[in-house]
Amino acid sequence: MTPRYAMFLALLSLLLFAGRYVSAAKCHPDDESGLLAFKSGITEDPSGFMLNWEPGTDCCHWRGITCGEGSNNRVTSIGFFSVPEDKDKYLSGTFSPLLSKVQNLESIYFQEPRNITGPFPKFVFNLPKLTQVHIENSKLSGPLPIDIGRLSQLKVLSLMGNQFSGPIPSSISNLTNLDELRLGNNLLSGPIPNGLRQLKVVYNVILEKNQLSGEIPNFWDSFSKLQYLLLSNNKFTGRIPTSLASLAPQLVNLELGNNQLSGKIPDFISNFKSLQTLDLSSNGDISKWATSSEILHSLKLARCGIKMRLEDFKSFGNGFYSYVDFSDNEISGSPVNLVNNKLYLAGFLASRNQLKFNLSDLELPMSLKYLDLSKNQVFGSVPQSVVGLEKLNLSYNRLCGKIPASKFPASAFKGNACLCGPPLPACRKHLHYVNLLYNKNHFEK
Ligand SMILES: *[C@@H]1O[C@H](CO)[C@@H](O)[C@H](O)[C@H]1NC(C)=O
Ligand SMILES: *[C@@H]1O[C@H](CO)[C@@H](O)[C@H](O)[C@H]1NC(C)=O
Ligand SMILES: *[C@@H]1O[C@H](CO)[C@@H](O)[C@H](O)[C@H]1NC(C)=O
Ligand SMILES: *[C@@H]1O[C@H](CO)[C@@H](O)[C@H](O)[C@H]1NC(C)=O
Repeated sequence: MTPRYAMFLALLSLLLFAGRYVSAAKCHPDDESGLLAFKSGITEDPSGFMLNWEPGTDCCHWRGITCGEGSNNRVTSIGFFSVPEDKDKYLSGTFSPLLSKVQNLESIYFQEPRNITGPFPKFVFNLPKLTQVHIENSKLSGPLPIDIGRLSQLKVLSLMGNQFSGPIPSSISNLTNLDELRLGNNLLSGPIPNGLRQLKVVYNVILEKNQLSGEIPNFWDSFSKLQYLLLSNNKFTGRIPTSLASLAPQLVNLELGNNQLSGKIPDFISNFKSLQTLDLSSNGDISKWATSSEILHSLKLARCGIKMRLEDFKSFGNGFYSYVDFSDNEISGSPVNLVNNKLYLAGFLASRNQLKFNLSDLELPMSLKYLDLSKNQVFGSVPQSVVGLEKLNLSYNRLCGKIPASKFPASAFKGNACLCGPPLPACRKHLHYVNLLYNKNHFEK
């Protein structure tokens, strides 16, 4: 080795060492030990999310970690993101309580870790700067802590898709800075606590898919920013509260479907200016607003006991509906005026009704993807235009003739008067000839 080359090597290793030293110095020892404690609580990490979480390296460069800018180079955020299709991207294990050593954490995002178990992660109580908690689609369980209201600095509390059970604690009234309360798809029970009315700046309340019961409280006049109120798939009883009317200027999505609500659907709902989805499936009576509203984009009225002729639906003159679900009612007549020329209609579902019309008269809009007319009294033949749909069900009607070549299964066509051809048995090719023979025989008698 020439002295010159040895010198070069020495310089190089000095540079490398210095570089490593400088970057290692960026990670606060508490952040490092807190994150490594979290790592050791994780028993399976098949996608290698924490592969570069190595002691002595700069934790600000670890995957999923974000640090503050400039002099404050403390860890401010942890993020793990997966999707159901990504079969190997999940985490098993539990949250280490030592994660609270990462004192400057502002946000925690765990989207679809799927297999992190354990109770509500209490370390969040010891993180004074925490404003966003997203731990969604995992297996956390047990009750929500009774003193959850101590997290009063929180802006987002999202625990969707876990197995939390028991009541929503009344101390939730102290989470007055919440923009989003997302507790959908858990096993929560009991009533909506009255204290929820203190969440005056919230724009997202998602409590769907739980076992909540009692009446939906009538306090919605204090919510000036609420855009999404999703309460469907619970066990709520009683009437639709009148104070929902005050949400008219801003509400985008109101879902009350699949509860045990009763009484009339109030007329005031027709005043909603920006409502895009209204889901009242399996609840009370339909009233006249729904038949004249021009603002709804998506109308889900499945299993509402509606008895009417479709021709009486006034609003079908406009072209705004994107999705209509009338399944399981007693609706008669023809949807031709509703469906034909509707530029935005993507889905029309009306199975199990008493629709009676010639299917050849239906002009499917280009936008249509889903058509379910099963279990009605539809007659005529199957038009070629259905071939472009994503989903089709015409079973149990009075259709006849050859089915156009398509990808749909036999169950989409069975139970009709005389449909034939794939996927059903072949059409009888010599029908005309057989008839002639019969006539001929008859004449010869
Ligand atoms: C989930 O975690 C449990 C316990 O930690 C483990 O037994 C199980 O194999 C994990 N499941 C998957 C799909 O990784
Ligand atoms: C809400 O916070 C206040 C002040 O911190 C406290 O006195 C009160 O007990 C809390 N309420 C609940 C229901 O936890
Ligand atoms: C349905 O309409 C088509 C086209 O107008 C017509 O040819 C056919 O005879 C009708 N079918 C029935 C059963 O009325
Ligand atoms: C069509 O509807 C019938 C009756 O509701 C059902 O049994 C069948 O599975 C459905 N088929 C398809 C392809 O959706």
